[in-house]
Amino acid sequence: RACGKIIGVGRALGSRVVTNADLEKSLDTTDEWIRSRTGILERRLTAGDEDVVSLSVAASKAAIEDAGIPPQTIDLIVCATSTNPESMPSVAALVGEAVGAVGVGAMDLSAACAGYAYAAAVASSLMQSGLAERVLLIGADAMSHIVDERDRSTAIIFADGAGAVVLDLGDGESGFVDHILGANGALADWGRAGHPGDGNYLYQNGRGIFRFAVEMFPKLVEEICAKNKVSLEDVQYVIPHQANQRIIQAAGRKLDLPAERVVMNLDRYGNTSAGSIPLSYPDLVGSFERGRYVVTVGFGFGLTWAANLYRI
Ligand code: ACO
Repeated sequence: RACGKIIGVGRALGSRVVTNADLEKSLDTTDEWIRSRTGILERRLTAGDEDVVSLSVAASKAAIEDAGIPPQTIDLIVCATSTNPESMPSVAALVGEAVGAVGVGAMDLSAACAGYAYAAAVASSLMQSGLAERVLLIGADAMSHIVDERDRSTAIIFADGAGAVVLDLGDGESGFVDHILGANGALADWGRAGHPGDGNYLYQNGRGIFRFAVEMFPKLVEEICAKNKVSLEDVQYVIPHQANQRIIQAAGRKLDLPAERVVMNLDRYGNTSAGSIPLSYPDLVGSFERGRYVVTVGFGFGLTWAANLYRI
């Protein structure tokens, strides 16, 4: 049985557009380097008092409005994030209050850039178990709050954004069908970051993560399709975490999928960590073809990785 039909989608981005030309002014870098090594042309960063909570609230309100449901009918809120400005309360609890879904279960989940794919697995499994019938699922990060803006190797990549979806129990035809989750703490030193404001800025082994992602991303897509006897032909979209254009293109070639079926929007939004997959939905759901599939794939610090198979 498929569980967790997407009935509403929304997104919110930092309000400040930062182009590569802007970064050339403050960092020892060039538009040409950033473009050719990452595919990023511009990114959206928070301004003023915007943070991961305000982005999550805005994306959630948009998703609830898109779904056309009363917020009181939501019975669980799950938010994937690593950039909550406070350890407590959770972003999810604050979102619940802000959107008018108070009194229901609300929790955050931390799995870095694989966060949304992990949270989708948790949300749909809790629906499957009977614990929830309508879930607000959020992936959100304000990466600029944990990145050193003077570090050219990371400041050019990371950005701020949130995506939210309303999942409904549905009729069993449409929804999440299966998930794969994994982690390897032995490679924890390949990516670390502190909390917003603590000065313990994000560090990554860019080359290591690059190689890991290039290998892991197509493998996960193949594995989840094979496990469920779904042919790649029936996969309308692969939505990967938006880390680097070269990673996404290499995986597309390995899977022999045309570019239009391997979603890429990091040219405009950069790497928004847990936000990157769900903030893609508003551009895609209008073209979803019933009966086909969407595979979402995340990978990130931890190291963590996860994939979801969703039947449209
Ligand atoms: N402008 C100009 N030169 C730069 C810049 C820059 N912005 N950044 C690094 N360089 C230089 C380096 O100093 C290095 O110089 P050297 O050869 O003289 O030492 C050279 O460029 C090459 O550096 P590399 O790090 O090897 O460059 P690479 O081609 O690997 O690109 C990048 C770096 C973009 C970070 C790439 O490795 C990457 O995208 N990796 C994946 C990272 C990723 O996905 N991280 C997110 C994980 S998800 C999560 O959980 C948060």
